[in-house]
Amino acid sequence: MARSHLDLDSIHDGDCLEWLKGIPDESVDLIVSSPPYNIGKEYESRRALKVYLEEQAEVLSECARVLKSTGSIFWQVGAYANNGSLVPLDVRFFPILEELDLIPRNRIVWIRQHGLHGKNKFSARHETVLWFTKSDEYKFFLDPIRVPQKYQNKKSWRGDNKGELTCNPLGKNPGDIWIFQNVKHNHEEQTVHPAQFPEDLISRIVLCSTEPGDVVMDPYMGTGTVAVVARDNERHYIGAELDAGYHAVALRRLSGEPDAQGVFPNLKTLRDYCQRTGGDPADYRFDVQTARVASGRAKAKRFSEEHHLAQLEERLAIEEAAFGDRIRGLGDGRPDLGRFRANATPSLFDDETV
Ligand SMILES: C[S@@+](CC[C@H](N)C(=O)[O-])C[C@H]1O[C@@H](n2cnc3c(N)ncnc32)[C@H](O)[C@@H]1O
Repeated sequence: MARSHLDLDSIHDGDCLEWLKGIPDESVDLIVSSPPYNIGKEYESRRALKVYLEEQAEVLSECARVLKSTGSIFWQVGAYANNGSLVPLDVRFFPILEELDLIPRNRIVWIRQHGLHGKNKFSARHETVLWFTKSDEYKFFLDPIRVPQKYQNKKSWRGDNKGELTCNPLGKNPGDIWIFQNVKHNHEEQTVHPAQFPEDLISRIVLCSTEPGDVVMDPYMGTGTVAVVARDNERHYIGAELDAGYHAVALRRLSGEPDAQGVFPNLKTLRDYCQRTGGDPADYRFDVQTARVASGRAKAKRFSEEHHLAQLEERLAIEEAAFGDRIRGLGDGRPDLGRFRANATPSLFDDETV
């Protein structure tokens, strides 16, 4: 089939498979996406999963074809639940990607701090991002994504390096456990889409695997998170979105301007616009607004990914120590916050039903 040239910085409104077939070979630097996995209810469930994975294999085969030899695919998936059974989808995607001669680099665990409390099995608290490259000559830049060390100013106290910093002053490798906050109703980036990527998660992926001017693709663009992040980091974007409503929201998000009624697709776009133009946030609205007026960014509380990771680590340590106490007959199994850390955060247990 004749492949057209790349229509850079645009989102196709339609099915991604047909659209992908028109993309030239080896023309994309990074593919990052979360495919839909509300697997067709019209089939018997096992067959539905099989059909879904066959369709995904076709899409991924096109993705592998359009990827440059230095390129990467980051494929984000959760689990498929049916009648109490739970299939972690990355387990099924891994062999599909390997079959395409792609090379696995990381399986990133994306932690979800909140969610439904399981009754018959453990509450699901993570999803995954599979990272595969097309060859061993892939792009990977650590410096733009380093995070602070726990003891950033630690110095060597003996030997030839005495007095010198023992760690990289730019920070450390962030590791393969990520805790970027899920985009929910109280999140600045929330649009009408129920399953948006957080922009920071996509920024980490874009910055570690591409350079300015590179082409970033999302075949399942939703409301355009990947496009916004690529554009904001001087990369080109391309992609597709089947749902006309989400496609329209993505275009409004990219435009950064209010519509004729003064409405933005999310609070972030509204605040960015007011910051740029000196406008008053209270004069505008956004699609999913519940408060009477939109607030400015100065009033927003924001915590870093590091903060959330440290909080989670602390919480798990407390929960497991309390469990240890209980099985040894010490205490009543309730967390003794003071014992584990003098400055333990009481709010760690606030969202639990007791
Ligand atoms: C998990 S969502 C992606 C959300 C996106 N990452 C964001 O941040 O907004 C998957 C999207 O794929 C779209 N979709 C489903 N089937 C599609 C197809 N065949 N071609 C293109 N898009 C499709 C859905 O409408 C949905 O918006």
